[in-house]
Amino acid sequence: KHNRKPFVGGNLKMNGSRAMLKEIIDRLNPLKFDDYVEVAIAPPSIFLDLAHRSVRKGVNVAAQNAFNCTKGAYTGEVSPEQLKDLGIDWVILGHSERREIFKESDELVASKVGHALKSNMKVIACIGEKLEERESEKTEEVVIRQLQAIAVKVDDWKNVVIAYEPVWAIGTGKVATPQQAQDVHLIIRDWLAKNISEKIAQDTRIIYGGSVKGTNSQELAKQLDVDGFLVGGASLTEDFIKIIECFI
Ligand code: G3P
Repeated sequence: KHNRKPFVGGNLKMNGSRAMLKEIIDRLNPLKFDDYVEVAIAPPSIFLDLAHRSVRKGVNVAAQNAFNCTKGAYTGEVSPEQLKDLGIDWVILGHSERREIFKESDELVASKVGHALKSNMKVIACIGEKLEERESEKTEEVVIRQLQAIAVKVDDWKNVVIAYEPVWAIGTGKVATPQQAQDVHLIIRDWLAKNISEKIAQDTRIIYGGSVKGTNSQELAKQLDVDGFLVGGASLTEDFIKIIECFI
């Protein structure tokens, strides 16, 4: 369908323990996916070091957040430079839970993306509309507004994966239909083609997140512009392996 390497991320959110993380990593390490799909797991920050030391080469570890400054008086925050010091190369930014619960604005998310990229991190940048926005036909407007804010801060798109996560599909069991996902992914890719470049549009991976399970991942993965997944709940279980295996 194209030559973008699929990407599957497991966002553990604020779940798990050291023992549970070990189980997740023990399931991932033996799997031979490297030629077909890039995989990252994102544990809570206190487990990042343990995760990094436990994964085999080829399994990436991602942080779930990072601040937009290098160091200083920012109690409770972690900087991209500190993550790099730990050996962590990936970070999820702009997740809807950060935007909603922790009131992160488009501007803050964009600033974090810019800072993380400058610190040589790779970014999974999340965008997506809420239910009422979809119902009032504002999906495109919202998604593009969020994307545009981020795009301003990106020089090198090869270090960016865009995650389209409709908020109404997150943790609800209400997955977007393959067509709904494809439609928005295409809107995002078209925007990149028109506003950044055709090549970047073709090369940038756009992944889907929101109630992805082993039972629905295959159909979603068939869509032309769906280049992988950001998985929440199912990344805690054996289902995560099934989702990765869609691309093998
Ligand atoms: O970042 C992944 C996510 O928000 C989706 O969560 O539990 O619906 O797969 P979930």
